[in-house]
Amino acid sequence: MKKPAPLRPAALAAAVCVLTLLSLSSAHADGGRAMPRNVPSAYTQECAACHTAYPPGLLPAASWNRVMTGLDKHYGTDASLDAATVRQLNQWLQAHAGTYKRVNEEPPEDRITRSAWFERKHRKIEPATWKLASVKSAANCAACHTGADQGQFDEHNLRMPAGLDVRSRRAWND
Ligand code: HEC
Ligand code: HEC
Repeated sequence: MKKPAPLRPAALAAAVCVLTLLSLSSAHADGGRAMPRNVPSAYTQECAACHTAYPPGLLPAASWNRVMTGLDKHYGTDASLDAATVRQLNQWLQAHAGTYKRVNEEPPEDRITRSAWFERKHRKIEPATWKLASVKSAANCAACHTGADQGQFDEHNLRMPAGLDVRSRRAWND
């Protein structure tokens, strides 16, 4: 009798694969925005020199790859690093990139701040608020999120930037 032996490893591999995907997506469902524990020191030193150290889970892998391969022309500035550091940081970003449904979409310009989820979460913020001297840009997460460097964006870690008028405070108060 012929055994269906060749099928078995494949079926097993498929099952393992599905299980891995399931556990990954459930882990990302609540931990996706958090900063991983193993942040390379080069990330904190180099990628938080000009702005918040963005948690890798906020962009999909393809976006991080474009950011890391275009550092010489980085949103109007030069953020070049040596090749070894670029490789190390890109590997880490790829390993922890956002994979869950909404973050999986590559936003325009590979900007977190242009993601559909970002715009929805901030829809109550008045356009003038982003331009306050105390904020300057939506990319400046830490102006309003005191836990931004640890990837904590919930309502317990919010602050009002200086200069907010009463009307603009709405987004903070509900
Ligand atoms: C020399 C300063 C500088 C360094 C160093 C730097 N950046 Fe930036 N980065 C910027 C500027 C400026 C912007 C645009 C900010 C804005 O639009 O307000 C930006 C924007 C970004 C954005 C898009 C933010 C958004 O709008 O959602 C990402 C992602 C990003 N940087 C990642 C990195 C990573 C990763 C590194 C380290 C490899 C890095 N940056 C290092 C200056 C820098
Ligand atoms: C001008 C202030 C401001 C800036 C800058 C800002 N946010 Fe927010 N963010 C808020 C406010 C206020 C809320 C709550 C909005 C609400 O509940 O309607 C919020 C909500 C969020 C939420 C949803 C939290 C939850 O528990 O649902 C996330 C995620 C988030 N912001 C991420 C970011 C990231 C990432 C950046 C930077 C790239 C950023 N924000 C920049 C003010 C800001």
